Amino acid sequence: MAKKYQPAQNRYEQMKYNRCGRWGLLLPAVSLGLWHNFGDVDNFENGRKILRRAFDLGITHFDLANNYGPSAGSAEINFGKILKADLMTYRDEMIISTKAGYYMWPGPYGEWGTRKYLLASLDQSLKRMGLEYVDIFYSHRYDPNTPLDETMSALETAVKQGKAIYTGISNYKPEQTAEAAKILKQAGTPCLIHQPKYSMFERWIEGGLLDVLEKEGIGCICFSPLAQGLLTDRYLKGVPKDSRAGKEWGFLKKAQITEAVLKKVMALNEMAKKRGQSLAQMALAWVLKDKRITSVLIGASKVEQLEQNIATLNNLSFAPEELNQIEKILKSE
Ligand SMILES: NC(=O)c1ccc[n+]([C@@H]2O[C@H](COP(=O)([O-])OP(=O)(O)OC[C@H]3O[C@@H](n4cnc5c(N)ncnc54)[C@H](OP(=O)(O)O)[C@@H]3O)[C@@H](O)[C@H]2O)c1
Repeated sequence: MAKKYQPAQNRYEQMKYNRCGRWGLLLPAVSLGLWHNFGDVDNFENGRKILRRAFDLGITHFDLANNYGPSAGSAEINFGKILKADLMTYRDEMIISTKAGYYMWPGPYGEWGTRKYLLASLDQSLKRMGLEYVDIFYSHRYDPNTPLDETMSALETAVKQGKAIYTGISNYKPEQTAEAAKILKQAGTPCLIHQPKYSMFERWIEGGLLDVLEKEGIGCICFSPLAQGLLTDRYLKGVPKDSRAGKEWGFLKKAQITEAVLKKVMALNEMAKKRGQSLAQMALAWVLKDKRITSVLIGASKVEQLEQNIATLNNLSFAPEELNQIEKILKSE
């Protein structure tokens, strides 16, 4: 039997914590997501090691969704097992989130944004994780066919029932975000946080979303800040078998690793070296340079990746020339 887990005494010494928008809640500058590497296709003990190490290094925020796996739901089940074995004593030191929005079960009530789906899904998630409540419950995507007040009322109900502490939205456009914020404020369960995709390779939030978040005082946690591993040294010498793009079930496809992408990655990698950082570290620091960003939400398939990514916090600053050079590389053909 594995030795009982004792978290590191100094776990809060290295991590930086940022206020989430205008709210009091502090989130770690680096948070860990369980989209990949925690499903029933993955090695359970490896996932367990990653979670323990994350907690030891001051990561207090763990992000899930109903459909993470594969199979869908298995990341929540495995997370629940690890919580029970190692971390439940520290529940009050953790911010755990889950979401509903994408396809989860057959029939008309298994996806999108109705009250029926969201509240049923949250109950299922709590059961899978063995929790009484989550800290953040998200609408995972905007539903064009359900009135926004219905979707938001499900988040409100979850909070009022004590099954969630805060509300969040993910992948909502600027105008949808402003509307959601208004409804949630009126309901007395204001929106804590938005979770959009953002990295050097995916910059849509610069076109209005960040301004809305700032105006509304909503936090911003950016997912896939490493573009699923593209913005690291992972693919510089081909596609390793154990990488996300090398696995059959990974969401990063080999076809996305084009010559043009690799050319930029190589140039960025050279720049990172000059800064005395790895490319992954430079990519995370680049996202965190905007003060409106609360946290970067990373994934990791190995403890070493996690350690390297947290060490980003040792150098978060950029000289103006460096930022210009990054822009040049990103815009190059
Ligand atoms: N709200 C949404 O719609 C949504 C959508 C997607 C994700 N998310 C959330 O965001 C989280 C993170 O997404 P993500 O996993 O795509 O983030 P990411 O940080 O962009 O990519 C993580 C992957 O990059 C590779 N990697 C990480 N650190 C590395 C390093 N130092 N050196 C080399 N490779 C490294 C690993 O891939 P290998 O497996 O190749 O080692 C790792 O699994 C998810 O778990 C989920 O919680 C939310």
